[in-house]
Amino acid sequence: MDDKIVLTGIKPTGTPHMGNYIGALKPLIEMSQNHKTFMFIADLHALNSVHDAKEIKQHTYEIAALMIAMGLNLENTVLFRQSDIDEIYKLSNFLMNVTPKGLMNRAHSYKAYVEKNTEIGADVDAGVNMGLYTYPVLMAADILLYNSDIVPVGKDQKQHVEFARDIAGYFNNTYGETFKLPEPIIGSDAGLIPGLDGRKMSKSYDNTIPLFAPSGELKKKIMRIITDSKTPDEPKNPDESTIFQLYKFFADENEIAELREKFIAGGMGYGTAKTILFEKVDSVLATPRAEYERLMANPSEIDAILANGAERARAVASKTIAKVKKKMLG
Ligand code: TRP
Repeated sequence: MDDKIVLTGIKPTGTPHMGNYIGALKPLIEMSQNHKTFMFIADLHALNSVHDAKEIKQHTYEIAALMIAMGLNLENTVLFRQSDIDEIYKLSNFLMNVTPKGLMNRAHSYKAYVEKNTEIGADVDAGVNMGLYTYPVLMAADILLYNSDIVPVGKDQKQHVEFARDIAGYFNNTYGETFKLPEPIIGSDAGLIPGLDGRKMSKSYDNTIPLFAPSGELKKKIMRIITDSKTPDEPKNPDESTIFQLYKFFADENEIAELREKFIAGGMGYGTAKTILFEKVDSVLATPRAEYERLMANPSEIDAILANGAERARAVASKTIAKVKKKMLG
């Protein structure tokens, strides 16, 4: 076991689909097997865009149930709900006082609003609430509260982890050595999972495949994957096929090699390839899907796991807050 502390947050803004699982969640579950990991559902981060409590709660359960059903190592992992730790509100507020406003002005997500507003001639800050504007401070608080060394994130979050380093540095310069400087690690596969139409699988393209849909629905979706118009007889390029790309994430090496061969040789229609993909995905997901459904039907079991995580997280968080308060207020 590596003794570095790994931490990451997952924002509960949608039901996780196959692309989220392969690109972001599966690597985290793998990492949990041999790292001490803090993993939380970032419900406070969802608040700047989702103003419906029921929705946030539902997605929180879905993410937790998915991670548990897919084999997250709950001994190594402290799995909790961000909002359950009161210390997070405190640290976030303390850090506001060493964070330059100009740093927030440079955040990609905020800048995207400013650019869009400028383009349409609106006030630059139209549609921007303070939750969105100060999002990187809350995220820095998440990272620094638990003494994290490594923060695995998607490419779009790299800047936020760099900001957390910057903010830790400002604090240390002002109050003396207090926080470790965290490192982002960016998943290499992130963004490469194709959806039904071949573009990146994303809710905003409406091309997603659900992870835990019933078999019939999963099959229907897979059969809708868009292909080129090659006839069954023609040889096909596996590396340009969404079917093959998805198959690679569920099959073993021999099976992958076998399907690659069939693509190249010709004589297999896309319909057959889709059936092979469906059968593989359906069989790999059968057991975790049953466990996911069981957990979703018993949310008190999820609550108990999250409560246990919160207790373990609080033990670390309270020490950090005591230290910070002493440095800032004496
Ligand atoms: N902002 C991240 C996202 O949108 C989620 C997140 C919140 C996070 N706090 C974090 C990720 C701390 C890593 C570390 O995906």
